Amino acid sequence: MSNGSGKGKEQWGSQLGVIMAVAGSAVGLGNFLRFPGQAAQNGGGAFMLPYFAALIFLGIPMCWAEWTMGRYGGIKGFNSAPGIFLAIWPHKLARYFGALALLIPLVIYMYYVLIEAWCLGYAYDYLVGNFDKIEPTVAAYSNHFNEFVGNNANGFLYEGGNNSLITMLLIVFILNFTLIYRGISRGIEKFCNVAMPIMALCAICVLIRVLTLGTPDPAKPENNLINGLGSMWNPNTEYLWKPDTWLAAAGQIFFSISAGFGIIINYASYLKKKDDVALSSLTACGVNEFFEVCLGGLITLPAAFIFLGTSATLMGTFGLGFNALPNVFAMMPAGRLFGFIWFFMLFLAAITSSLSMLQPVIAFFEEGLGLRRHASVTFLGLVAALGTGFVLYFSKGMVALDTFDFWVGTFLIYVLAMFQTVLYGWIFGIERGEEELHAGAHIRVPRVLQYVLKYVSPIYLFAIFGAFCYQSLGGRVKSILDDSVTSAATLFILVVFAFLLLLTHIAGRRWEREGRLPSR
Ligand code: ALA
Repeated sequence: MSNGSGKGKEQWGSQLGVIMAVAGSAVGLGNFLRFPGQAAQNGGGAFMLPYFAALIFLGIPMCWAEWTMGRYGGIKGFNSAPGIFLAIWPHKLARYFGALALLIPLVIYMYYVLIEAWCLGYAYDYLVGNFDKIEPTVAAYSNHFNEFVGNNANGFLYEGGNNSLITMLLIVFILNFTLIYRGISRGIEKFCNVAMPIMALCAICVLIRVLTLGTPDPAKPENNLINGLGSMWNPNTEYLWKPDTWLAAAGQIFFSISAGFGIIINYASYLKKKDDVALSSLTACGVNEFFEVCLGGLITLPAAFIFLGTSATLMGTFGLGFNALPNVFAMMPAGRLFGFIWFFMLFLAAITSSLSMLQPVIAFFEEGLGLRRHASVTFLGLVAALGTGFVLYFSKGMVALDTFDFWVGTFLIYVLAMFQTVLYGWIFGIERGEEELHAGAHIRVPRVLQYVLKYVSPIYLFAIFGAFCYQSLGGRVKSILDDSVTSAATLFILVVFAFLLLLTHIAGRRWEREGRLPSR
């Protein structure tokens, strides 16, 4: 097993370790903040129908495909998406889609790590009692949040005053890169093995607190637990007729299980030929759904509703997480302790995900450019810091963060997912796919899955993507033309993509020279 210095092929230490790592990648801020926010805005319980349809026809099949192709690429000697795609499809275009599978995790990391730092900052504030000094109203917490993240002005954070976010950001960067430097089994796997059970424990503690809140304010009997759960789960069936609900559900599934991110394919490439992928993939999805539906779905919105009433359902992801919930903790008994547990849990959930966004790029720098571990970690650290610095600088109204999230965290995920379904169903082939999926498998996946992957998933995805482009692209393109920060952020993404395209081109030439690619 590799010592993480770049010598020898890295591998997971155990089957449980890889499941924990993939589940750790999946369970993140998307489960506890994004999911309740999306459900509240898209019909509550009615959102669950398109949500489970997307899970069954897109999410779970896509995960199986990614695990299968990833392990196949690993056996052929590649750990990075450009190499894995080329091993499956020896065509020049494959390496450019590979560059997309590097761009997605890298750019998402650039803003995701910032939210991770917010969570650490909030956990610290609860620990030392800083929140005791804030008046317990949503407006006061909202002011605090806006100041903390620099939501009121660009460049605000660099002008002194509030530099606690920069300290938190430095801590999370150092932690992420130290773990990545240690490698697959000594870094990512060991950390996830410890962090996942702690996260589950923390979330269950907060869940028990929320489920035992009853009716805390007798003057407002309608703000009780049952209505709180209803605010999340009562179906508003009108929403089922809106295409937006179906788009939001598919986007949530991809974001939540980290499918179409270029991550699973990389993690699975460190498996051995006879390691199970069929049951492992299903288990990782199951763990993610438990955290999302049973924990995220029962905590965030019901808690906010019990104290704040129906206004909580309109607050959106960040409003719920960073304005409503601190207000809720301020009003509940032992709120400071539960506030700390909650934000510390969010921080752990975020770091197990952000780590997984770095590894695909590290793997590429090492195998594509021949860099040693310390060089690839340093190089990636500089590129990631540049992007995070950009998002941090253009903090006003979170325009840069939102632009990165829309174009990369939503649009490009659809593009990569579409490419991967076609790659699996039509190029790799479902006969070979089925055989590979079952090599070393602990379960037998029904044959119908292969047909779902070949026909249903691509049609479903292309339809959803078409509707998504129709609904959102016009407005988004207009804002690029109208707003200078949006255009700068879009240009930034394009420059990073061009850079990665160049690097994948160089890597492809190198692999060709070394005779590592199968002939066409
Ligand atoms: N899958 C990760 C999350 O849900 C990115 O936050």
